[in-house]
Amino acid sequence: MDSAYITTPIYYVNDRPHIGHAYTTTLCDVWARAMRLRGADTYFLTGTDEHGHKVEKSAKERGMTPQALADENAAEFQNMLKVFGFSNNDFIRTTQERHVRQVQAFVTRLRDSGAIYLGEFEGWYDEGQEEYHTETRAKELGYKSPVSGRPLVRAREQNYYFKLSGFQARLEAFFAANPGFIQPQARFNEVMGRMREGLQDVPVTRTNFSWGIPFPGDEKHVIYVWIDALFNYLTALDAGSASSSASAKVHYWPAAYQVIGKEILWFHAVIWPAMLMALDLPAPRRIHAHSFWIRDGQKMSKSLGNFIDLAVIQTFTDRYGLDAWRWYMVTQGPLDATDADFRSGHFHEMYTAELVNTVGNCASRVGAMVGKYFDGVMPADVENGGAWPERCASTVSNWEKAIDDFDLVAAARGPLDLIRGVDLFINQTEPFKLAKDSQQRDRLASILAQCSQVVRVASILLTPILPSKMEECLAGFGGAISAGRVAYGGIATGARITKMALFPRIEPATESG
Ligand code: MSP
Repeated sequence: MDSAYITTPIYYVNDRPHIGHAYTTTLCDVWARAMRLRGADTYFLTGTDEHGHKVEKSAKERGMTPQALADENAAEFQNMLKVFGFSNNDFIRTTQERHVRQVQAFVTRLRDSGAIYLGEFEGWYDEGQEEYHTETRAKELGYKSPVSGRPLVRAREQNYYFKLSGFQARLEAFFAANPGFIQPQARFNEVMGRMREGLQDVPVTRTNFSWGIPFPGDEKHVIYVWIDALFNYLTALDAGSASSSASAKVHYWPAAYQVIGKEILWFHAVIWPAMLMALDLPAPRRIHAHSFWIRDGQKMSKSLGNFIDLAVIQTFTDRYGLDAWRWYMVTQGPLDATDADFRSGHFHEMYTAELVNTVGNCASRVGAMVGKYFDGVMPADVENGGAWPERCASTVSNWEKAIDDFDLVAAARGPLDLIRGVDLFINQTEPFKLAKDSQQRDRLASILAQCSQVVRVASILLTPILPSKMEECLAGFGGAISAGRVAYGGIATGARITKMALFPRIEPATESG
């Protein structure tokens, strides 16, 4: 298996963490856990994006240095990682020396190769996003920022530019050869549409502020925050160090998945691969651009003050548990091309239907029957699993494919269906009736052994999403797991099986929603 490198965007330190950041990080965390479970050499990176005009401005408003502001908010993001128990291998901050040094080295290489040149530029500038738009695009946007809604301004600068226009043909060939590069398909089509408008060179430096990485050789310029930021995916691996071949991490590149929100697709799907081409480095294997969480039908915004921030999230994790929160994020989130609406009533419904009534109920039911009829000892299965080993094997392959495709909804649904299958099997075979007939002892033993094995398989496949609950469940169904291919039959005859209450039934919250 290839090594498995996955990245989140690095988050701006002028915002406090909210559901959007937590969501993307959760998706990556689930994927990383799944790949580790499969035995892949996995590396999961997240971090903070700390330079740029916005940070400089916010810091000034608060009467502090940009570095102090960055330190304060990077700590907020690190705290979020801790609260959620994310399994990231590293946390990169763009103000770290390792990053600054390597970005300067990469930019020097780009300049030496002719991919970066000094030129003059005029265009439509989105001050909030620090991004230029072409005339066509600006017109499409109604000359307003697609993010903040504020008017775009006409701006002109002498700057260093990246020769994106020179990569049009190579990018087109790359997209044609890699039609799965951008997920989901709708986003791929969007990018292809914009590609047809023709590529324009992009400024890679700024002179109107100083909070950034100095442009090597011309230090009145600082490197544009987006160019600085994109390199984090490489600098975290030490791929831009003089002795990068000696780095223990450089083999992780190219990333298997770079997961982002849809609003930053152009940078990741077009500018980034072109920069990598200019550096003779391979493009990431896939970019997955998910959509947005909205809340009760409305976009979340500062002006509405309706962000689902960590404090709001905590009311859910306190009430339902962290795994239930992860479950809702993964199964009901905006993984694909449509936005997802966060409603607490819906959260409650899904928790009750899927976790309480399905996963929890099935594990408790099976554990209880093994307890009652076999003193909590895994009985022997004279039927060798019946149809279950095959059914489990197909669920496992579908699950692996779902992970490969970043279809985390399918990766949740497969094992959930397996659990539903166990419930149905119990309802059909009626072990509680068989138990009354001593002639049926072997049949009863086989049925309950099969149910236990299947609960174990499903629980293993659910560990990436529900790490602590499934660890608890597995403790009662055959014990801890080791990495490798998941297979039917992990519980030895004679092992202890315990009944457990995994997901408590909870009264719906009284607040509206
Ligand atoms: N710093 C840049 C990214 C640089 S990556 C080289 C940035 N940072 S950000 O703090 O604004 O984070 C944006 C990311 O947060 C989105 O791409 C997405 O992953 C996540 N989300 C922010 N709001 C979101 C929602 N409402 N819903 C889902 N995710 C969203 O852009």
